[in-house]
Amino acid sequence: MITIKSEYELSLMREAGKIVYETHKYLKPYIKPGITTGELDKMAHDFILSKGATPSCLNYEGYPASICISVNEEVVHGIPGKRKLKNGDIVTLDICACYKGYHGDSAWSYAVGEISKEKAYLLMHTENALYEGLSKVKDGVYLGDVSNAIEEYANKHKLGVVRELVGHGIGSNLHEDPEVPNYGKKGTGIILKKGMTIAVEPMLNLGTRNIYLLDDDWTIVTGDNKPSAHFEHTIIVTSDGYEILTGDDNYE
Ligand code: MF3
Ligand code: CO
Repeated sequence: MITIKSEYELSLMREAGKIVYETHKYLKPYIKPGITTGELDKMAHDFILSKGATPSCLNYEGYPASICISVNEEVVHGIPGKRKLKNGDIVTLDICACYKGYHGDSAWSYAVGEISKEKAYLLMHTENALYEGLSKVKDGVYLGDVSNAIEEYANKHKLGVVRELVGHGIGSNLHEDPEVPNYGKKGTGIILKKGMTIAVEPMLNLGTRNIYLLDDDWTIVTGDNKPSAHFEHTIIVTSDGYEILTGDDNYE
């Protein structure tokens, strides 16, 4: 079931989105060679609690940490721990917070120190793919138009589009209908309506689009071990476009 949120619900979602955004901004200066992913997770956890929210990922279907941290060939759901970030890595922080019963969700991929041209290309074009998709969003538009815009952009830049993982509706549940794939045909799928809240989240790979699950039962990696990037915003569909709830300055 796809829900249209009331003004009151939207006000809580704005708060949840803002907390996710602020968590990214808070962590960004610490994304440097030598820090462990576990340290970043702990900082995110404490920061989210300090804002009166809870980390939605913690214990979600048994997930054992407060945020997801995925490095290089890890696509999503990397589990924070003792791993130290190194110069030249790319790292995705996927942060979800719940405020008064409503969730915000945003993933962002960052460079650690100096990265290769290929990795910089992947980051730039995956971020662009997110905004290509968002540029189609407004009341009355087919969801397939959004998905198609992301896929076309990725194809044009020869990046692999992960298909097994998709964006999603979001609200009082972290994952709600509809699914928001990063591939699809124009003029298909549901029609977006004002007041829907969705998370749009392209996951693009430098190589193959194929992925597999590691033995820890969470971490998903690329089939060829080439790097993957992930950019996600939570948005409200509006009559003439969209409102981003998880920040408007790209975590700069
Ligand atoms: N942002 C992630 C998603 O939309 C949240 C994962 S929570 C986890 O799938 F617990 F599954 F890691
Ligand atoms: Co999400």
